[in-house]
Amino acid sequence: MMRHLLADDDLTPAEQAEVLDLAAAIKADPFALRPLEGPRTVALVFDRPTLRTQVSFSAGIAELGGHAMAVDGGLAAMGERESFEDVARVLGRQAAAVVWRTAHQADLVTMAEHAGVPVVNALTDEFHPCQLLADLQTVREHVGTLAGTRVAFVGDGACNMGNSWVLAGATAGMHVAVGAPEGYEPDAAVLARAGEIASRTGGSITLERDPVAAVTDAAVVVTDTWVSMGREEEAADRLRLFTPYSLTAGLLAHAAPDAIVMHCLPAYRGTEIDAAVIDGAQSVVWDEAENRRHAQKAILTWLLERA
Ligand code: NVA
Repeated sequence: MMRHLLADDDLTPAEQAEVLDLAAAIKADPFALRPLEGPRTVALVFDRPTLRTQVSFSAGIAELGGHAMAVDGGLAAMGERESFEDVARVLGRQAAAVVWRTAHQADLVTMAEHAGVPVVNALTDEFHPCQLLADLQTVREHVGTLAGTRVAFVGDGACNMGNSWVLAGATAGMHVAVGAPEGYEPDAAVLARAGEIASRTGGSITLERDPVAAVTDAAVVVTDTWVSMGREEEAADRLRLFTPYSLTAGLLAHAAPDAIVMHCLPAYRGTEIDAAVIDGAQSVVWDEAENRRHAQKAILTWLLERA
């Protein structure tokens, strides 16, 4: 059966572990697997800004023997000039897989239903599962195990990264505490789904108003921008509201002494994270950025094996 990565829970716990094992093997031996030999083409479609996603997919696809075809979603006027269904059918006739960054999860689902090739979520407003695979690979490298590890996500819990952390963390059997102001928790349906997954994996999800309560004893402390793509008009209100959740050295001091600090980038120093923290000894953000390539090579290889 054709598989896609549209949200973090598209992978079962066993499948997530399998993809992460593959990512580690690929990192150790980057040119061993050539599932895109030909070269076969992977379409990289962007309706929104990108740096890490475009460069890590492009480099990774080249290392898998393939060709990365960047498609400017704005130029194509997808959904306006022609329907997403028709765009999907056209892309699927040219590419072995479609990787898409767009606003709405529902449009991504439409793409997956009509492309006839594996579709990968390269960020929507709701989820960022490629980042989570890279993040979990990074936690494995620095902490060792995922199951039972305590993670704190502080700041805008309602953004794609908050949703993805609770879903992917639950899948991995982690204990995820979200420290966020009222109204900025992960999506209620996502929380319910994550809770159900956690009940099977031994993980847990907790919501905290107090950022100190969220961070206390965490082995992994995560934050993200307070103004995600598409939220720019709310910037002033958000900066005020989220200030108590800023990842400062003082807040980090409540975590485990050897806790690692993660941020998917782009980061705004002095806002959601202090320069001393993101540029400090506990930060693993550049490993996260590198691991995008390895983790995405793994998920593409895994999906292509099932296409
Ligand atoms: N939450 C951020 C993630 C950026 C990679 C955003 O959506 O802008």
